[in-house]
Amino acid sequence: MAIDKKIELHLHLEGAATPDFIRQIAFEKKIDLSKIFASDGRYAIRDFVHFLQVYEAASAVLSRPEDYARLTRSVLHAASETGVIYCETFLSPDFCGGGDLAAWQDYLAAIEEVADQAQRDFGITMRGIVTLVRHFGPDQSKRVARCAAESAGRMICGFGMAGDETIGHPRDFAWAFDCAAEAGLPFSIHAGEWGGAQSVRETLDAYNPPRIGHGVQAISDPELVARLADTGTVLECCPSSNLVLGVVPNWQSHPLARLRDAGVKVTVSTDDPPFFNTDMRREFAALEQHFGWGPAEFAEITKTALEAAFCDEATRAEISKQLTT
Ligand code: HPA
Ligand code: ZN
Repeated sequence: MAIDKKIELHLHLEGAATPDFIRQIAFEKKIDLSKIFASDGRYAIRDFVHFLQVYEAASAVLSRPEDYARLTRSVLHAASETGVIYCETFLSPDFCGGGDLAAWQDYLAAIEEVADQAQRDFGITMRGIVTLVRHFGPDQSKRVARCAAESAGRMICGFGMAGDETIGHPRDFAWAFDCAAEAGLPFSIHAGEWGGAQSVRETLDAYNPPRIGHGVQAISDPELVARLADTGTVLECCPSSNLVLGVVPNWQSHPLARLRDAGVKVTVSTDDPPFFNTDMRREFAALEQHFGWGPAEFAEITKTALEAAFCDEATRAEISKQLTT
């Protein structure tokens, strides 16, 4: 398996917008966004909650389907340049039409059209996981779930939850998860990034999702780590994200390698690459540098990601073929 071809399972579409991209759209719309940028032009983020605020301020300038079409093309082009041939992006009806179904369908149509072009132009396949934002609350999550259920199909292949994990309990969103499950959508749920091992346990107890976003805080509870290994739950680890947001102090202490050693299925993604000064090539280079990983480990996480992808079987077979050619 060639390691220059990569699969990315955990990428927030708005979070993949570069500062230049957001500044350009803000300029065209005459929106003053200066407070979210540092003097070097990068996103200014102090901590996790502030990161979510900056993320939402940047996303707010993307107010039309055309904006998302431009964003999608630029994100897919950048990802393909780092070797990504398949990516799943978190898509938020909250940001795409505020939870209104008809508006969401317009945004999704624009994204799908560009994703099809990008597949032809850049050789990258994109799928979407409709994602509720936890701190927007259970009522809003119902609208998001309806959008997901109505658009489940070729592009929309999963349902998820992101946002501030320290707020509420996973079961507060049971209506939304039930609705998405009825539409046949599997779950990827952010847990154990900020919420500690307890948050991972609550999430497994509530929904037993096949994939958890981050999950790295599980490392503090050996029983939970054994449970994750046992259930085969796939963790979407995003090490640079964890470093920049202060979840872990440095690369050496990142739990990724220890989780893998304990038999947990791990994958690697970028989360919100420009926010964390990363891309998939940099993540792989850091894994090589700090954990001594090489072709065998990269092939293993790529295989894990391929098996855990939410796409249909024909797409999985096609991606598998591309990985080996
Ligand atoms: N965690 C939670 N919510 C998010 C993230 C994240 O890493 N990125 C965008 N929304
Ligand atoms: Zn994330």
